[in-house]
Amino acid sequence: MKDKSEGLGRGLTNYGDRAFSRYLRRSFASSMGYSREMLDRPIVGIADTRSGFNNCHRHFPELIEAVKRGVLAAGALPLVFPTVSLGEVFLSPTSLKFRNLMSMDTEEMIRAQPMDAVVLVGGCDKTVPAQLMGAVSAGLPAVQLVAGPMSTSRYRGERLGACTDCRRFWGRYRAGEVGDDDIRQVEGRLATTAGTCAVMGTASTMAIIAEVLGMMPAGSAAVPAVDAERLRIGEETGRIAAGLIGSDLTPAKIVTERSVENALRVLLAIGGSTNGIIHLTAIAGRVGIRIDLDRLNQLSDTTPVLIDLKPSGQHYMEDLDAAGGVPALLAELRDLLHLDCPTVTGETIGERIEQAPSWVDRSVIRARTEPVTPQGGLVTLFGNLAPRGAILKRSAADPTLFERTGRAVVFTSLADLAQRIDDPALDVQPDDFLVLQHAGPTSEAAMPEAGYLPIPTRLARAGVKDMVRISDARMSGTAFGTIVLHVTPDAASGGPLGLVRDGDRIRLSVAERRLELLVPEEELERRRQSAPAASRPVARGYDRLYQEQILQADEGCDFRFLQAPSLAGGG
Ligand code: FES
Repeated sequence: MKDKSEGLGRGLTNYGDRAFSRYLRRSFASSMGYSREMLDRPIVGIADTRSGFNNCHRHFPELIEAVKRGVLAAGALPLVFPTVSLGEVFLSPTSLKFRNLMSMDTEEMIRAQPMDAVVLVGGCDKTVPAQLMGAVSAGLPAVQLVAGPMSTSRYRGERLGACTDCRRFWGRYRAGEVGDDDIRQVEGRLATTAGTCAVMGTASTMAIIAEVLGMMPAGSAAVPAVDAERLRIGEETGRIAAGLIGSDLTPAKIVTERSVENALRVLLAIGGSTNGIIHLTAIAGRVGIRIDLDRLNQLSDTTPVLIDLKPSGQHYMEDLDAAGGVPALLAELRDLLHLDCPTVTGETIGERIEQAPSWVDRSVIRARTEPVTPQGGLVTLFGNLAPRGAILKRSAADPTLFERTGRAVVFTSLADLAQRIDDPALDVQPDDFLVLQHAGPTSEAAMPEAGYLPIPTRLARAGVKDMVRISDARMSGTAFGTIVLHVTPDAASGGPLGLVRDGDRIRLSVAERRLELLVPEEELERRRQSAPAASRPVARGYDRLYQEQILQADEGCDFRFLQAPSLAGGG
């Protein structure tokens, strides 16, 4: 029997007799009906995240067949293995809490099973960052394949796509503009195909980031889930992965300071999800790269928003694909990018740009001379309320609210918010700032997408569409409004956000990148001293690991012990 260090011969199960381990493994693998010729091939593992709790991945059986075709045609053996799957709306308290669990599962199963390269098949919000984090740490050649976006549908002639339109209709329902019957019918039309949310939400943002980092085939991020091209991309991905066997082009060689900066540029240029900054920080942290939020501001000032997609603009992901996709966007940003970054196909980003389509729909992918906005979509705010930063998606916010001082109306928890936001007796005015505390990464809530605080019903019914809202929570990439998120450090870890009281004045200046609590330091210190000591029962299992290891938003909410050793231990 050949002693192979690839394929089935990798990483033998330890029975104290290597020859016996090989013999037993081959015997058991044969029981799955593979021929000797197949079992002698190198192996491409395919990480499958289909799940009955993940609507976005419901087409994966067909997509994975395409990947297998590509792997077989390239002379390797495809073996599919399941991992944790995270269906965004099916997880409690929030999918982010389990992203690190999925990354650990992915990393360990890549490492523990005998494979020579891996295809990561994901899509729904947290799945792609989890897979990339795991693959970067596992150190094996890897290629990402995404689900592709959902296609839009229609309701009474109006185009609908999850989930900006979900929120828009819900806001109108709360304001009394849409009735019970309508909202029930809209509910059935928002998400009608397989694939990920149809707008520039987190899934779309992370698909584009994966392509820009160089971890996917060129032009593959925006192709719709139901398009035949998606299957051809699956086949191509299988071939690419097989071609990487034996290569040292591992994810850690592709995710570099320069490719991460490219990804940040593009995150800004697409008006990407605020979650994108957390996930990119976590992925970069696995190779020891720390994202500097001051640098994000510098990049933001010199990067125009060029993609006109909801929630910042008008169109949907399928339109981005038809307009020329990511390659057309990169061609437009060429002079702002590091062109020498490698990709999984062996081409550099610059070489990919050479092959960008010549026809581009400029209503979706704007020319640099006619940007959607001249500056990037995200901005970091600093100040005594957010010493380590807070994020505002200015491209999805109301600029008339950018330079304001307002009175704080404070909700101390998600339960408090739910109980009082629609109370007719709530003392709140349109110019007030709504503040939500204890919804950050170290809170029991585990940083849900609750930063999009609803406009109090009384004000919504009076026509108020936007207010300044501040929290240590996150926001769905599909949401919109003047919403300050990821306030760091968070309230539950003793951050100043937890010291805000009803009636305090808060100053927001997007121009100056400031978020200030206008309360004297002596008073803040007094509140700090008089705050009751936080007491939470010691958890068990994964909750305990989460409690002990979770990092703040500016560290990507990764677990301390999963970061690269050069970063681990940072506070
Ligand atoms: Fe899966 Fe939106 S619910 S991407």
